[in-house]
Amino acid sequence: MQSPVDLFIGLMSGTSIDAVDGVLVRCTPRFETLALATLPFPDALRAEFQSLQQPGPNELERAALAANSLAELYAQVAHLLIAESQTSASAIQAIGAHGQTVRHQPGRGFTLQLLNGALLAELTGLPVVSDLRSADVAAGGQGAPLVPAFHASVFAHRLGRRAIVNLGGLANISLLPALMDPASGEVLGHDTGPGNTLLDQWCERHLGKAFDQHGAWAASGRVDAPLLDLMLSDPYFAALPPKSTGRDHFNLGWLEIAIATRGKTLAAEDVQASLAELTARSISQDCLRWRADEVFLCGGGAFNSDLVSRLRRLMPACPVATTQALDIHPMAVEAAAFAWLAARRVALQAGNLPRVTGARGPRVLGALHHPRMQTD
Ligand SMILES: Nc1ncnc2c1ncn2[C@@H]1O[C@H](COP(=O)(O)OP(=O)(O)OP(=O)(O)O)[C@@H](O)[C@H]1O
Ligand SMILES: [Mg+2]
Repeated sequence: MQSPVDLFIGLMSGTSIDAVDGVLVRCTPRFETLALATLPFPDALRAEFQSLQQPGPNELERAALAANSLAELYAQVAHLLIAESQTSASAIQAIGAHGQTVRHQPGRGFTLQLLNGALLAELTGLPVVSDLRSADVAAGGQGAPLVPAFHASVFAHRLGRRAIVNLGGLANISLLPALMDPASGEVLGHDTGPGNTLLDQWCERHLGKAFDQHGAWAASGRVDAPLLDLMLSDPYFAALPPKSTGRDHFNLGWLEIAIATRGKTLAAEDVQASLAELTARSISQDCLRWRADEVFLCGGGAFNSDLVSRLRRLMPACPVATTQALDIHPMAVEAAAFAWLAARRVALQAGNLPRVTGARGPRVLGALHHPRMQTD
């Protein structure tokens, strides 16, 4: 019999706008994933969220309606998890739901994840923790990345220095010192820059496909060194953490400026290869600088074998595996982090790491929406 107080659902849809990933977890005595479910975005909703990334007409109404549609999709994933795990919904304590980022401007005091949390609570009958980034931004932080605290709690090793790299639309890294080495410092983390988003958008434009399956197209091209250097000269890569970024910064417009500055017509596959190398270089340089002993990958990019080969080539002395080796499926890690953050919220414990986000201090994260009363 499972304790009714330690089951949580995490629901995540990231910058790639590909799918809603969900996971049912047990937090104690040992963190465990019990069920995974995913549903792709319907084309119209995906297109609407892509469009809402930029200013456009009648944004307020369109954002509110998209937030409702997303709550419905999140609820379907929650119901799949409950059915698949044969868990009674009443045993689940809360849902941690990320929502869809449409603006990330912590420097200007806001970050915006669309999701109607109240509707999700209504549709599932479960408490919902949403808007998990705003409290950190209100405290002067980046509101991101939030996953390092979770990574530290489940992936830190007694003796080795581990880097956990999430290859989502953007890529973020958690640097976890050895637990037994008091001299090895604090948990660190930041967004390294683009993960898959530029690879996806370039592939969509030239091949009409949502992503480059296993990175085969990138592998067929040749890295253009001057273009790579131009892209790596973006000040974001050299900036010291805390730092976070989004599609507001790394998008096709950014790439087009780099290509125009390069001033030579390049084959589309060579651009793709250069983008893959950009993701790999920006990540490996941070792993190497921090002297990671081991690197574990999660997120969809962990299935891009070309990208993984590039990372291995750039870090020959450092074993690179996926988080499957640590018992959590690579596609479940982000959602699991939001389940863990919901548990922190319900227990009124801080969810952020101020050293990572730059916030003035630890903060309890998220708005809590209670569902209908039992008598309804
Ligand atoms: N077999 C594969 N080959 C190549 N790329 C893949 C493969 N499977 C997934 N991907 C990449 O992973 C992306 C989705 O990854 P994921 O869902 O982790 O990102 P996300 O939704 O942006 O999440 P977040 O940004 O929050 O981490 C796809 O858009 C694609 O680029
Ligand atoms: Mg995704």
